Amino acid sequence: MQIHAALLEGPNHPFVIETLTLEAPRDGEVLVRLAASGVCHSDWHLVTGTTRHPMPCVAGHEGAGVVEAVGPGVSRVKPGDHVVLSWTPDCGHCYYCQHGKPNLCETFTGPIWEGVMLDGTPRLRLGSEPVYHYCGLATFAEYAVVPEQSCVPIRKDVPLTTASLVGCAVATGVGAALFTAGVRPGESVAVFGCGGVGLNILMGAALCGASTIIAVDTNAPKLAIARDFGATHTLLASDDVIESIRALTGGRGADHVFEAVGLPSVQENALEAARPGGTLVLVGLSPMGSGTNLPGAVITRKELTIKGSYYGTVSPARDFPLLIDLYVAGKLQLDKLVSQTYRLEEINAAYAAMLTGEVARGVIVY
Ligand SMILES: NC(=O)c1ccc[n+]([C@@H]2O[C@H](COP(=O)([O-])OP(=O)(O)OC[C@H]3O[C@@H](n4cnc5c(N)ncnc54)[C@H](O)[C@@H]3O)[C@@H](O)[C@H]2O)c1
Ligand SMILES: [Zn+2]
Ligand SMILES: [Zn+2]
Repeated sequence: MQIHAALLEGPNHPFVIETLTLEAPRDGEVLVRLAASGVCHSDWHLVTGTTRHPMPCVAGHEGAGVVEAVGPGVSRVKPGDHVVLSWTPDCGHCYYCQHGKPNLCETFTGPIWEGVMLDGTPRLRLGSEPVYHYCGLATFAEYAVVPEQSCVPIRKDVPLTTASLVGCAVATGVGAALFTAGVRPGESVAVFGCGGVGLNILMGAALCGASTIIAVDTNAPKLAIARDFGATHTLLASDDVIESIRALTGGRGADHVFEAVGLPSVQENALEAARPGGTLVLVGLSPMGSGTNLPGAVITRKELTIKGSYYGTVSPARDFPLLIDLYVAGKLQLDKLVSQTYRLEEINAAYAAMLTGEVARGVIVY
């Protein structure tokens, strides 16, 4: 079939709307009619080149839609199902899947990073040339062929625009607080970076019962938004942030500090905001090949813990429905998170708005 998609020809190019050929789903694959796809900074890393990926590609990995057709052998979903797409398809059998860490499933990382389906070939073409799929999803398009292992069926009474955010920002952010850090009632939390991901960390920390929730951002309007998502205190990154965080936490530093920007310099600074015995959770994706200079001499003496958080340590099949139930129960403000919607043709404007920080989360609606 012919579809409209936002093509990325290579780093430092704008997205271009093209008509591409999308082949029918093969064994174990699913054709999804996308309803919405969130505007996540991780796709922007492809544009800046800080994440390397085969090009040309169709980005987009925060998607929800309706199953249109299934290839042979598909058992997880059927036509008509509403699905949120997972960017870590899991096999159920590998060491990580069997140890409760499907977000680290190792079976498909090869093809996923080669930008192809699990059989090693792409389904997208521009004329006769292959086009690669980011995360095996390529949701900046009207339709996508995805592995069935990426499909998580969800209840049908929630708007798919809202549900799409569960596929990345919500799972990543709320999951980082709930599952990676395991924030407990009464604890203190500081979050560096209040984009779509950071706002979800704030919401997750509030859900866990944290009493002091400090939001830090370079962008003043973001701090006002952060208050709506559970921040009890807000700090401009240019202020003396470390001093201020200590002052708000009995002079010690926060129990849990989250970095949701993806810059080594911010990661280094964020460590100083953790109390002795506290935890720094790295959520932002820093440039591939970059290094972060974290002081071992201090980490040992202060018994600091540094944790990576990939997809919020979620188990997509278990936790996407759980997060959606929390939204329906009024415990996650996901409608407020969708602060601006765009048509696919407006994708470059959607990213410009993400970079100026005027939105909580932009969402492309098909
Ligand atoms: N670990 C994961 O599984 C995972 C999943 C999704 C996204 N990410 C990454 O998380 C990061 C955030 O993604 P997002 O979609 O929320 O991005 P975003 O662009 O919406 O938000 C980033 C925020 O950081 C702020 N910021 C920039 N520089 C800062 C600084 N020096 N100090 C404090 N704040 C600063 C910006 O003003 C903005 O509000 C990105 O690196 C993204 O790739 C990681
Ligand atoms: Zn696995
Ligand atoms: Zn994302």
